Amino acid sequence: MSVYQATASAPVNIACIKYWGKRDTKLILPTNSSLSVTLDQDHLRSTTTSRADPSFEKDRLWLNGKEEEIKEGGRLATCIKEMKRLRREVEEKSPSEPKLSSFAVHIASRNNFPTAAGLASSASGFAALVSSLAALYKLPATPSELSLISRQGSGSACRSLFGGFVAWEMGSAADGSDSYAVEVAPQSHWPDIHALICVVSDDKKGTSSTSGMQRTVETSPLLQHRIKNVVPERMKAISEAILAKDFDTFARITMQDSNQFHAVCLDTDPPIFYMNDVSRSIIALVTEYNRVSVENGGKLKAAYTYDAGPNAVIYAPKENLKEIVSMIIRYFPQAEPFKDPFGLFANESLGSGRVV
Ligand code: ADP
Ligand code: DP6
Ligand code: CO
Repeated sequence: MSVYQATASAPVNIACIKYWGKRDTKLILPTNSSLSVTLDQDHLRSTTTSRADPSFEKDRLWLNGKEEEIKEGGRLATCIKEMKRLRREVEEKSPSEPKLSSFAVHIASRNNFPTAAGLASSASGFAALVSSLAALYKLPATPSELSLISRQGSGSACRSLFGGFVAWEMGSAADGSDSYAVEVAPQSHWPDIHALICVVSDDKKGTSSTSGMQRTVETSPLLQHRIKNVVPERMKAISEAILAKDFDTFARITMQDSNQFHAVCLDTDPPIFYMNDVSRSIIALVTEYNRVSVENGGKLKAAYTYDAGPNAVIYAPKENLKEIVSMIIRYFPQAEPFKDPFGLFANESLGSGRVV
C-alpha cells in the first residue's frame, strides 16, 4: 500500500512596510501593499507534514502537538480546499495519478519559536502548510501562484513563499487574483543584511493581528491617511533602496513604517498596544546608536521594526552585528546569548538570524 506524505518548512518574514488592514476579510485582500524580508530557514520556521489516506474520515490538523479545529469556511479549510482543487487539475490532466484530491488529509505542524507572539507564526505557518500540500499533490504551481492560496490563510503568509526581499502587491481585482507576492530581490542580491531577533516576551498576544487590524479599519482616521498618502511612496522608495543596496534609506523607511504602524494601533478605538517598555527602550538604544554614527559623519547602522507584538527585529549590515549584540547585552543583562551553529547569538530571550 502506498503512503502519500510530504514535509515542507517555511521561514517567517518580517515586514519593513507593514500590512495592516483588509478591504476584503474573507479573501484576505489588503488595504495597502507591503514589503518584507524573509529570514533564514535555519532560524524561525514552521515545519509541516501532510498525509493523504483513503482511510482518513476528515481533514485534521495538529499545531505544536495539539489538535486545532478546522472550521467550515475558515482559513484552514479554505487553504486545504484550494489545494485540493489544484490537485484535481493535475488528476484530470494525468489520469494515472492517484486520486489524492478525494482523500482527507492529516496535517501536523510545529513552530520552532513562540506561536502568536508577534513573530509572524501565521506567516511561516500557512506558507509551510501550502508548501507541504503542494509537495504532497506534486503541483506544478509557482511560488506566486501558491502565495495566492497562503494569502487566504494569513495575509502575511503570501510573502513567506519567497526568500529574500518580497513585496505583496495589493492588487485591485475583486476576486483577489492579482493580490500575491513577488520577489523584489533574492537574498543573494544583498547578503550583507542580517536580522537580529530580540525576544522580549514569548507570551501569546492579547489582540490577534486579525481582530486588531479589523478594529483599525473600522475606527482609525490615521489608517486612511497612511494607505492613501504614505505607503505607495514608501513601497517605491524602499524597493529602490534594496536594489541599490542603500542601507541608510532602507533603515530610515523601515523604522518610520514600524512607528506609523504602531501609531495607527494607538489611533484605533479602543487603542491597541503591542509594544511594551522593553520594546521602547530598544528603540531608544538603536536611535542613540544611529545618532552617534550620524553625528560622526557616518550613516545609519541599524533599523528596528516591530510586528504586532513586543519583540524587536533589528536589521543591520553584518559588520555592525557584534557591536549591536554587545550593546544589547550591556543594557539587557538578563539576555544571555550563546553561540548558535552559525556562529551568531541565539537563545530564548535574545536570538539572531541570518537573512535567508
Ligand atoms: P503571529 O504574530 O505569530 O503571526 P497571529 O495572531 O497573526 O500571530 O497568528 C497566530 C495564529 O496563526 C495561531 O493562533 C494559529 O492559528 C496560526 N498558526 C501559527 N502557526 C501555525 C502553523 N505552524 N500552522 C498553521 N497555523 C499556524
Ligand atoms: C504587523 O498576516 O498575521 O505582522 O491576515 O489576519 O492573518 P491576518 O494577519 P497577519 O498580519 C500581519 C501584520 C504585521 C505586518 C506584516 O506582517 O506585514
Ligand atoms: Co500573523
